[in-house]
Amino acid sequence: MNIRKLHHNEQPPMKLLLLADPSKEKVTDYVHNGDCYIAEKSGETIGVYVLLKTDAETAELMNIAVKESAHGKGIGKKLIKDAVQRAKNTGLKTLEVGTGNSSIGQLALYQKCGFRIVGVDRDFFVRHYEEEIYENGIQCRDMVRLAQRLQA
Ligand code: COA
Repeated sequence: MNIRKLHHNEQPPMKLLLLADPSKEKVTDYVHNGDCYIAEKSGETIGVYVLLKTDAETAELMNIAVKESAHGKGIGKKLIKDAVQRAKNTGLKTLEVGTGNSSIGQLALYQKCGFRIVGVDRDFFVRHYEEEIYENGIQCRDMVRLAQRLQA
């Protein structure tokens, strides 16, 4: 598997990006403003993530997704480690990520990759998404904010 930056003249893998975020408008916006990286295997795109610089020292992992048939094989972890390394290499100090209160697997994954919970944006998903979202039998209302320091 090879992970590379998507060139500006290439189409982002929208189907994959929408697995992580149901808002096409928001996805289009942050893909345009951020850097999109794709994981390819045998010429096929099997994963994606988007890094957006939010201030001089900070970037946010805006989206991460792996093709459904390839879940559970460690690709998500590899993508997060790649994002952490790239953010570190550009001298950034903090990498942030946000996920829903109902995204149990993602909360586990981010903490396994070194992120710690730093806050909760209550009712974020109620305010920003028209449709109600349910996962694991839980309504997704709150955005759990996580972060990790990149430099000592
Ligand atoms: N409890 C505990 N650990 C869990 C878990 C749960 N409910 N669900 C997942 N994990 C752990 C796995 O055990 C694994 O850790 P391990 O290697 O220590 O066993 C890790 O999280 C996931 O591993 P990995 O195989 O690398 O993940 P993946 O390739 O399946 O990708 C996603 C993970 C989230 C990117 C993928 O499921 C996906 O694309 N989902 C849809 C899009 C999405 O929700 N994106 C995130 C938006 S916030």
